[in-house]
Amino acid sequence: MTKITPQTINPDRRAFVCGAAVIAATVLTGAAQAESGAAGRKTTSQAPEIFGPIRQIDAGVLNIGYVEMGPEAGTPILLFHGWPYDIHAFAEVAPLLAKKGYRVIVPHLRGHGTTLFRLDATPRNAQQAALAADGIALMDALGIKKAIVAGFDWGARTADIMAVLWPERCAALVSVSGYLIGSQALRDDERASPIYGVELPEGYRDWKLISVAQENGRNNDIRAILGNDVAVRAFREGKRPFPDGAVIVRLAWRYESSARNDKVFPAPQSFTAGTPTNVQVSVKDPKRYAATGGWGYGQFEGGRPNPDRALVQSCFACHRKLETLDAGTDFVFTGYSR
Ligand code: HEC
Repeated sequence: MTKITPQTINPDRRAFVCGAAVIAATVLTGAAQAESGAAGRKTTSQAPEIFGPIRQIDAGVLNIGYVEMGPEAGTPILLFHGWPYDIHAFAEVAPLLAKKGYRVIVPHLRGHGTTLFRLDATPRNAQQAALAADGIALMDALGIKKAIVAGFDWGARTADIMAVLWPERCAALVSVSGYLIGSQALRDDERASPIYGVELPEGYRDWKLISVAQENGRNNDIRAILGNDVAVRAFREGKRPFPDGAVIVRLAWRYESSARNDKVFPAPQSFTAGTPTNVQVSVKDPKRYAATGGWGYGQFEGGRPNPDRALVQSCFACHRKLETLDAGTDFVFTGYSR
C-alpha cells in the first residue's frame, strides 16, 4: 500500500486564525505581551522558519510531527491547531510563550502535516475523542505528566476533551473559537428557574386548556392557562389540594387590536394575541416545596428562565394571599372553565 502524506502545508491559512491565536496568547501571557508581540503583526505568505526542524515521535497509533520551543524544564504547554490548519497557526504565539519560559509543543493533528499513521491497518478516524487520545499519547511519548492544553477550532475541542477525560493530565485549559464542548450539567442549570429549579415542561404547549384570562393596565395581555393531565383531572373533579405532579402553565401574549380583522367588521372590535410576553409555571411537589404550600414556581421568557430571584420570590408571596380571601383553593386563582 502506498503511503499518502497528508496535505502539503499552506501557510496562507495562518492568516485566518491569527485573531484566535492572538486571543490565546493574550490569555496565556498577558495582554501587554500580546500587544507588543503578536497583535497586528502582518502574516507573510511564506511559512516562517521560526519553528526550526519538525521532530517526529511514535505516539499511540501515530508517528506525530511536532515542533518544540522554550526551555525543556519549563511548564509544558500543548498547542493544538484547528482544521484545516496546521502548526504554523501558532507561529506568532509559540515564541511568545517560549520567551515566557514555557516548554511549547505544537503537534500536527492526525491527518495534517508530517503526522502519519504507523500502521496501514489502523482505521482512519477523526472521531473527536481520538484526537484527544492522540494528545495524551504524545504527552506519554514525551514523558510529560501534566501540561497546559490550548487550541482553537478542532484543536480547542481536542484540548477540551483532554481536560474532561484526563483532568489529571491537564494543568489548565485555553479553548478558543468554535467546536467547543460544554457541560451538560451547566446546561441543566441554565434551564431551571432560580430558587425552585422549575423547568419549562416539555410539550406544555400541547397541554389541555383550563381557562383564559386577561389583564388590563400595565400588563395589557391575554392569557391561556394550561395543565398537564394530573392538573386537568384535579381541575375537572374539583380536587383540592392538587395532587403531587400537577403542573399548571400560564402563557401570556400582548393583547393587540387587529386592524386587519377589524376591516371585516362594521366597527373596530377584534383583539388577538400578539407577541408572547412570558410563561409562568407552577409545579406541585408537596415534599420538595413544603415551605411554599407544596408549590414551586418559575417564569420563562423566550424559553429561558428569568433569573431574577426577587421575581420568583414574589410568586408564592402573592399566591398565598388567596388563602385568606378564598380558603381551600390551594393557592391557585384559576378555576376550570367549562
Ligand atoms: C401580585 C400577585 C401575583 C404574583 C406576584 C404572581 N401571581 Fe400568578 N396569578 C395571580 C393571579 C391573580 C392569577 C389569576 C388571574 C390572572 O392570571 O390574572 C394568577 C395566575 C397564575 C397561574 C395560573 C394558575 C393559577 O394559579 O391561577 C400561574 C401558573 C401563576 N399565576 C404562576 C405564577 C408564577 C410562576 C409567578 C411568579 C413568577 C406568579 N404567578 C406571580 C397573581 C400573582
